[in-house]
Amino acid sequence: MKLWAGRFHKELDSKVNDFNSSISFDSRMAQEDIEGSIAHATMLGECGVIEQHEAQKICAGLKEILADLKSGALSIDPEAEDIHTFVEGELTARLGDTGKRLHTARSRNDQVAVDLRLHLKKQCAALQKQIYGLIRVLCQKALEHRADVMPGYTHMQRAQPVTFGHHLLAYAEMFLRDADRFSDAVKRMDFCPLGSCALAGTTYPINRERTASLLGFSGPVQNSLDGVSDRDFCLEIASCISIAMVHLSRFAEEVVLWCSWEFKFIELDDAFSTGSSIMPQKKNPDIAELVRGKSGRAIGDMTTLFAMMKGLPLAYNKDLQEDKEAVFDAVDTLKLCLTAFTPMIDTMKVLPKNMRAAAAKGFINATDCADYLVGKGMPFRTAYQITGELVAGCIEQGLTLETLPLEQYKEHSELFDESVYDAISLEHCVNGRNVLGGPAPKNVEMQANRILKLLGAKPHD
Ligand code: ARG
Repeated sequence: MKLWAGRFHKELDSKVNDFNSSISFDSRMAQEDIEGSIAHATMLGECGVIEQHEAQKICAGLKEILADLKSGALSIDPEAEDIHTFVEGELTARLGDTGKRLHTARSRNDQVAVDLRLHLKKQCAALQKQIYGLIRVLCQKALEHRADVMPGYTHMQRAQPVTFGHHLLAYAEMFLRDADRFSDAVKRMDFCPLGSCALAGTTYPINRERTASLLGFSGPVQNSLDGVSDRDFCLEIASCISIAMVHLSRFAEEVVLWCSWEFKFIELDDAFSTGSSIMPQKKNPDIAELVRGKSGRAIGDMTTLFAMMKGLPLAYNKDLQEDKEAVFDAVDTLKLCLTAFTPMIDTMKVLPKNMRAAAAKGFINATDCADYLVGKGMPFRTAYQITGELVAGCIEQGLTLETLPLEQYKEHSELFDESVYDAISLEHCVNGRNVLGGPAPKNVEMQANRILKLLGAKPHD
């Protein structure tokens, strides 16, 4: 029987019942629903809204329900409308009239809002931990490969030499911001909507600060209409997730490229690659591709939430029930991707020789050649022009700047001497780029250690 049977003359149509129900996806908030109810009942007892001994019975009953759910002695009834109805129904089945007092000064509208905030706060912390785990791996790899020269790219064209460690730390920086973004989101969502009730608060002498602090929030939400209808935190978390997924997707794309015969900068571990059903030679980077693909899914979840919220009048509307599947899917997607991606990166074999060979082609030391002339007093624009002509000459003769004879250098400028070969050696090029944030091995080492130190203080997987 429905909660509202008193007002109605008919049972809900069975198909509508399925349509209306949210138990299949909100049961994952069972623990938070029970924790929220325990805090609410505790506060009701303390404020004298219900008798203290009844509040205690309710809390004990709720704890038993949670224990039974965890042990498997109790399973969630898939016929229940939602997790809130299920828990209250179970409590009433166990405690009779006492159970019926729990919902005093409360509505499912503030209840679902508090459950979701509690649940997502935990999920954000878990995602952050996973992200820190990935950053740690990146720092370790960066230290290992701090001096391995690879071509840096712009427009997918070889541009200037960098080090593999430097390249990896670029991603570490992105993921650090991603982790931070979750902290920011949690700071803003860390307010308790309980006591907003259906939309207009309550006439009972409740203590909203107390429930907020019992549940570990930094305070109560300040407006009851906002309390039941705000889902900014879902939008924000889905946005944070989407940004992190975009970063993962960019990285995944590079992994796919690096594994190809065209690059062969890395080889993925067999445990993180797949074969082909027809082509015996194949070793495919499916995990990286799936991560890249799933970024679209996370962005889709975020878009779902924005489209669902747009134009919703105050206060609660059933549209809001659609928040959960989308935000949960976004959370699960990032979680799943990180679970596969981090060990894939950790176990990949890096092939520095191939990186070095690629760096030797493509004239990525041309800027350094121009800078050499600048060092000898020539204005940069003239040096740039001369180096362009040298490169064109090399291409014509099938040479590189390293193999171009000194006489030819001298034909373009008398400022060239033997020392040019040192100046344009790739190792010299990266070692010299020791500016803060640059690819020089020393700098990579310093940056990786700085990040590792930062992580030392944070929980990580
Ligand atoms: N399942 C609902 C949701 O997710 C719970 C709140 C129901 N409130 C209501 N007035 N029907 O939003």
